[in-house]
Amino acid sequence: MMQRLTYVSRAGLSLDLDALIEKAALANQGFGVSGLLLQENGVILQVLEGPRTAIAPLFLRIASDQRHFDVTLIEARPIDELCFPRWGMTLLDGALKTRALWASHGEAGFDPFAMPARAISDFVRLASFELLNAAPATAAGR
Ligand SMILES: Cc1cc2nc3c(=O)[nH]c(=O)nc-3n(C[C@H](O)[C@H](O)[C@H](O)COP(=O)(O)O)c2cc1C
Repeated sequence: MMQRLTYVSRAGLSLDLDALIEKAALANQGFGVSGLLLQENGVILQVLEGPRTAIAPLFLRIASDQRHFDVTLIEARPIDELCFPRWGMTLLDGALKTRALWASHGEAGFDPFAMPARAISDFVRLASFELLNAAPATAAGR
């Protein structure tokens, strides 16, 4: 059974997302997991998608990682279709993030800790749409 898990956390000072994402993407491909990661004002939002048997232990590992804190589960649910089928883990940044943030929030600041879970899933859907419609060179190059 496939599952999608979304959580938010706060980045620690030593967190180097660029270095982390390469290792994470490789590891995730190994167990059929894909997803999305973004950081905005020190807040991390990550979506993990894949077999439930892989997602649960992975989330436990990530949640106990000292490089971030206040790890807060937003949603974990069964899914029929993957939103992020193409990459082991994609760092959403630059124009894609800006467009998705604007589409879902306009000028309001992006604070997932203060947003209802529903608004977060809306944002994730928009971000997925942005990624899937981006030029392959831009999105897959991450
Ligand atoms: C914000 C954040 C996101 C992470 N995402 C992933 C991920 O998607 N896949 C992954 O294998 N490790 C991810 N990690 C790293 C794991 O926490 C852990 O370091 C890694 O799975 C190796 O685990 P090990 O040191 O117990 O072997 C992430 C860490 C942080 C802080």
